[in-house]
Amino acid sequence: MSSTLFPQHIIAKKRDGGVLTGDEIRAFVAGATDGSWADYQLSALLMAIFLRGMNREEMSAYTEAMMHSGVVADLSALAMPKADKHSTGGVGDKVSLHLAPMIAACGVAVPMISGRGLGHSGGTLDKLEAIPGFNVNLSLEDYRAQLDRVGVALIGQTKELAPADKKLYALRDVTATVECIPLICGSILSKKLAEGIDVLVLDVKFGRGAFMKDETAARELAEALVSTATAMNKPTRAIITAMDQPLGRAVGNALEVAESIACLRGEGPANTMEVTFALAEQMLLLAKVADTKEEARAKLEKSISSGAALAKFRDLVAAQGGDANVVDDPAQLPQAKHQVALTAAQSGYVAEVDAMEVALAALRLGAGRAKAEDAIDPAVGVSDLVKVGERVEADSRLCTIHANDESALAEAKTILSTAISLIEKPVTAPRLIGKMIG
Ligand code: URA
Repeated sequence: MSSTLFPQHIIAKKRDGGVLTGDEIRAFVAGATDGSWADYQLSALLMAIFLRGMNREEMSAYTEAMMHSGVVADLSALAMPKADKHSTGGVGDKVSLHLAPMIAACGVAVPMISGRGLGHSGGTLDKLEAIPGFNVNLSLEDYRAQLDRVGVALIGQTKELAPADKKLYALRDVTATVECIPLICGSILSKKLAEGIDVLVLDVKFGRGAFMKDETAARELAEALVSTATAMNKPTRAIITAMDQPLGRAVGNALEVAESIACLRGEGPANTMEVTFALAEQMLLLAKVADTKEEARAKLEKSISSGAALAKFRDLVAAQGGDANVVDDPAQLPQAKHQVALTAAQSGYVAEVDAMEVALAALRLGAGRAKAEDAIDPAVGVSDLVKVGERVEADSRLCTIHANDESALAEAKTILSTAISLIEKPVTAPRLIGKMIG
């Protein structure tokens, strides 16, 4: 090891505002992967990067090193183009569940590796596991075989993919270094680019229920993600979307699966479908199976009206060991013991449905986890949520609370009563889709 690659020298260089070389960044990531750097050295450099930042070249070198810290899936034998979408996370964001089969039904393979929910933000894997029997733990070999056979696979992170991120993310979580654009960029892209995709579309959310609270910060993250992935020869586009109120009308694992099935039947809530179409159109354009947005939209609408996307979802569920009957009869999904309507005390227009508060209510009901090792209850959550701008009459339903525990039900009711606010004057529905980057 050259003396400049000693951890303490690399840490000091970044601490003093220096620009790290590719070799220095690779030494850091290798140290995280093989354990040759101590946790305190990794943490010190993470904090130095948090405080001093990284330029574009450092970010690309970091992302590349993180991606190559493990296996990069080789899907080149697959004849179809391969596209994925990643969301920075929100409340009620079940888009992946129905978007993936829609895209696959349009002739583009979707190799999707997702995460679990933590804190206020839900996770695709937890939602899928609400389907009895659904197995998210496929080996890379089975993942490849399923993509070949079905055109879509939705699985969890394997230990072979981007192991440096597993180590560094756990350290960031406990050293106050999560909210840092270069580190987020390396973390998200290393995992996505290790999936073996050709193109990527990102949903970068901002607002009360998102990781990035304001649109400017979301745009900055989107620009970093797009420029880094593009520099690595992966055509990538990001759409900025609002996350002040939950997406759609359901929050909670089985409830969100039911909403996704409704989307595949052409009966999805308008705002869930607005985000779905915006992202899916860009996936088809980047994958070059459509030349215009209108053509992409027509293909996607046909995937729903013809039943092809729903059939693809049924195939996906069956291929991963899930009970495919739920696709035709969502009532067979786990059901909570109590299903109670929260009603409006007076008539008015919905001014706010605070995504963070709704997430807290869902968390209290048991739909999410406060710590990574917590168990979740797939049946509980909130459905039939009103949307900002809608008119409600006194005593009409604001939402339905699904609970398995009476004290959690009472607490969720209190939280939701303040999360949803009504005013007398009409309210314009807020803009959902923001700028596109890339
Ligand atoms: N999601 C990730 O996977 N990594 C981050 O750093 C932040 C969000």
